[in-house]
Amino acid sequence: MAVLSVAPFDFVVFGGTGDLAQRKLLPALFMRDRDGQITPDSRIFALSRRPVPDFRRDVEHALREHVSEAELDAGVLARFLARLEHVAVDATSDDGWPDLVKALGDGDDPRRVRVHYLATSPDLFGPICEALGRYGLADARTRVVLEKPIGHDLASARRTNDQVNAVFDETQIFRIDHYLGKETVQNLLALRFANALFEPLWNASAIDHVQITVAEKLGVEGRGGYYDHAGALRDMVQNHLLQLLCLVAMEPPRVLDNEAVRDEKIKVLRALAPITRESVGHSTVRGQYRAGAIDGQSVRGYLDEQSVGEQSQTETFVALKLELKNWRWAGVPFYLRTGKRLQQKVSEIVIQFRPVPHRIFPADAGPMQANRLVIRLQPDEHIRLLMMTKEPGPGGMRLKAAPLNLSFAETFKQRFPDAYERLLMDVVRGNPTLFMRRDEVEAAWAWSGTILDAWAQADERPRPYIAGTWGPSQAIALIERDGRTWYDETLEGV
Ligand code: BG6
Repeated sequence: MAVLSVAPFDFVVFGGTGDLAQRKLLPALFMRDRDGQITPDSRIFALSRRPVPDFRRDVEHALREHVSEAELDAGVLARFLARLEHVAVDATSDDGWPDLVKALGDGDDPRRVRVHYLATSPDLFGPICEALGRYGLADARTRVVLEKPIGHDLASARRTNDQVNAVFDETQIFRIDHYLGKETVQNLLALRFANALFEPLWNASAIDHVQITVAEKLGVEGRGGYYDHAGALRDMVQNHLLQLLCLVAMEPPRVLDNEAVRDEKIKVLRALAPITRESVGHSTVRGQYRAGAIDGQSVRGYLDEQSVGEQSQTETFVALKLELKNWRWAGVPFYLRTGKRLQQKVSEIVIQFRPVPHRIFPADAGPMQANRLVIRLQPDEHIRLLMMTKEPGPGGMRLKAAPLNLSFAETFKQRFPDAYERLLMDVVRGNPTLFMRRDEVEAAWAWSGTILDAWAQADERPRPYIAGTWGPSQAIALIERDGRTWYDETLEGV
């Protein structure tokens, strides 16, 4: 497929030697370069506080680790490395800023886009933007990307947004949630709004409940210092899971453009019923992993991870039951769960339909299951619809559940780009549809804050779970109390 190149750009990564830059941002830019989307004169600047002796060699190592060998063409690698420059800049003082101004040069081409990607702790977003303004690096062709988390709670998110808005116009600010760049997440929009089949049934009269699971096998992987102050609710629910919920639950936007889509998403966030001190005990479960085994390898418990407090009460797992107070979804529970060190890496959305209203089949035709739509976001991306069918053969009517299966790997025999590849190019193109607007981030914090407050008031402590399981038993009880179960492909087969 032909790839259209984007405008020439200077891409400046604050936190350029950090984990995200090395694991995701630079590999994503490399892949776009490899596919011919980046103009020859585009440049990449990686910033960190201290000088780095041989930055290009470090990036080469990172690319060898995070890009598959087949894609690491030697010519492209040399071209990509030649675009890179490291500049030592201290976000909290004036050190290095004149060097950055000099390295960027006047850049008098008005078409040349300048992107500042802030892959740093959110406390630095304000000071960095203030310095960008002071050093003349925030003109009209400049865009700024904010990595999540934006703030630690509603008050700090507002403070950070105010500081960034003092320098940049809202149209220049791109708040990234990489889940929105995943192919299968964007596919949710196609599934719902490019097919006539589902939308008439997409409401409380046909849907019994919805499940959203984002499970990881990884632990905190050297990010204990950050994670121990965040926890699963702030790290995953406030952003990724709520964004998925928005795409599942929103009304059809008028058109697929940034304001229309984001206007619909925010209505979902505003319809979320607050979780109170009274409801927190039966609507939420916090968990924390203990030592266990993943794929036969023993792994340590959370409290023994590097940079985690010995008595830490941070949750590494959350399960929630939530409700949307609106016409479409009244009475339909949404069950969400996410955690680290779980049995399987899987992200999926399950739409469980209601049973048929009346059974016409005799008892010996066997049990009937209600339709279920499973949207597997990763890995092994697919959409599966569980249907009831007749088992072939003579001897009367025997019913059997079987899946209609749309496997993306089989249908589209091509590489699935990483979410960051799409999103970084959207920043250069100036398309914010898949980014979060200020009001969305704040609405997500306002609702998540109700849970954090309720946990604090009720002194809710994380329940232990063994690494390699599906989380604490209370999370199973959370859904089973309602006569439902978490979907598990390995048990159900469809
Ligand atoms: C990040 C979280 O935003 O998403 C991490 O900070 C988490 O803790 C990651 O591991 C999961 O992303 P993915 O794309 O691997 O599902």
